[in-house]
Amino acid sequence: MRAADIASDLTTVLVTEEQIHEKLGQLAAQVESDYEGKNLLLVGVLKGAVMVMADFARHLTRDVAMDWMAVSSYGSGTKSSGVVQIRKDLDTDLHGWHVLIVEDIIDSGLTLSWLLENFASRGAESIEVLALLRKPEAAKVEIDCRYLGFDIPNEFVVGYGLDYAERYRNLRDVAILAPHVYA
Ligand code: XMP
Ligand code: MG
Repeated sequence: MRAADIASDLTTVLVTEEQIHEKLGQLAAQVESDYEGKNLLLVGVLKGAVMVMADFARHLTRDVAMDWMAVSSYGSGTKSSGVVQIRKDLDTDLHGWHVLIVEDIIDSGLTLSWLLENFASRGAESIEVLALLRKPEAAKVEIDCRYLGFDIPNEFVVGYGLDYAERYRNLRDVAILAPHVYA
């Protein structure tokens, strides 16, 4: 698909690549100071968090471990089903680790609330959440997100890891997907 065709699928750019990098740098500085002297394990939630994880981790100047979990609560549609399925579990035993879950977006909050409950009994020293984006108007459950990038309106967004039917993940900015694409 050519650039001009992709552009016609998007309405508004909500967060630019530059804004994302500036924010991730600030969050990394905060995380470094909060976790000084502690074993830190970043857990990325596949696949949407791949870009956030890669860029956030490289803003850190300290050593971290990384693991990945794949869950699905969405099909190819744009609304949360609330039903979460583990497609790939962690490889790491969480005992002795301070866990920071790295997510692309908190929409209804159902996925993270399920994940937090799933992690609670696995013996981690602590569990916190970093999310690049959050839609406050879409919340069905409150998620205690210690490190947040941006609050955005209740619109379906793509780019920077976020997809619609596996497309648009490689866009550098986060933009609203034009309704004609999924209508
Ligand atoms: P919930 O509703 O459980 O959503 O907080 C969690 C997961 O759903 C995906 N999601 C989106 N993906 N644009 C996307 O491309 C969106 O606007 C959007 N909202 C939710 C995402 O994978 C997230 O982790
Ligand atoms: Mg996700």
